[in-house]
Amino acid sequence: MMHDKFIIFMITLATAWAAPSSIPNSYNAPVQDQFLTTACKADDISPPLSNGTATLPAPPYGQKVLHLAVGRGTQNYTCDSSSSSTAPKAVGALAVLYNALCVAIDNPDLFNLLPDISLQFSTPGGVSGPVSPPSILNYQNLNVIGHHFFFNSTTPVFDLNTPNGMFGNAVMEKADSVNAPHNAPKGQGSNANGAVPWLLLNSTSASTGPVKTVYRTMTAGGEPPATCNGMPSSFTVEYAAHYWFLG
Ligand SMILES: *[C@@H]1O[C@H](CO)[C@@H](O)[C@H](O)[C@H]1NC(C)=O
Ligand SMILES: *[C@@H]1O[C@H](CO)[C@@H](O)[C@H](O)[C@H]1NC(C)=O
Ligand SMILES: *[C@@H]1O[C@H](CO)[C@@H](O)[C@H](O)[C@H]1NC(C)=O
Ligand SMILES: *[C@@H]1O[C@H](CO)[C@@H](O)[C@H](O)[C@H]1NC(C)=O
Repeated sequence: MMHDKFIIFMITLATAWAAPSSIPNSYNAPVQDQFLTTACKADDISPPLSNGTATLPAPPYGQKVLHLAVGRGTQNYTCDSSSSSTAPKAVGALAVLYNALCVAIDNPDLFNLLPDISLQFSTPGGVSGPVSPPSILNYQNLNVIGHHFFFNSTTPVFDLNTPNGMFGNAVMEKADSVNAPHNAPKGQGSNANGAVPWLLLNSTSASTGPVKTVYRTMTAGGEPPATCNGMPSSFTVEYAAHYWFLG
């Protein structure tokens, strides 16, 4: 049965990313995701905080997991010049957030593999938004729960409003980070430069909704090359990660 879930997820991933040019602002889900109701409660799960040697700060007392997503998209970078003496600058990211709460509770091993697995499926055109909601929606979950983008280069936003649920806009700032563990999936093919760090993000006053803290863990890919040598002035690197929303 888990195997079926896995296959269905992979097929929907492969067919759903049919060349959108950007992440849609709104998203018309035709059915209610049963797992956004009462089916899966996050009371007993919490994000991993250690990469093996360094540890992210624990969540503030009393905060609980509200939502849990697999994010799949791109990290964006710019290069001032195409030279080996400059390093790419991170300028944001775009990702679709898939509700992964039930799979995390039912099958943690599969959940932990999802960033790596989903990274191996390309997003045609280098983009990251499903434009074909029905094929993502199946009885086994992993519906779209939101979209991740940047307001500016230091302000990550998680728009958790979809017809599956109006969970608010989490407008965050970086509070802490640790490197991804050494064995984290490094990326796709020749772009395997490493996995982006694990992060702790704090909510800002611009947020709406209950999310106070976001953790990005279990990252796969997303790191740029070490230098700008041969790189264009802007480029994207494919990545996936777990996003934990607490409040
Ligand atoms: C990231 O790159 C994508 C694809 O090129 C683009 O649509 C998006 O606007 C970029 N976002 C940021 C924050 O630079
Ligand atoms: C991004 O926006 C926030 C909120 O308006 C602001 O505090 C911050 O200085 C901005 N950062 C940059 C790099 O513009
Ligand atoms: C993030 O929030 C936590 C809990 O409220 C707080 O202890 C910490 O100082 C904040 N970090 C930053 C960088 O604002
Ligand atoms: C954990 O992160 C720290 C700091 O970001 C880094 O120095 C260390 O090498 C990482 N440990 C492992 C096992 O990846």
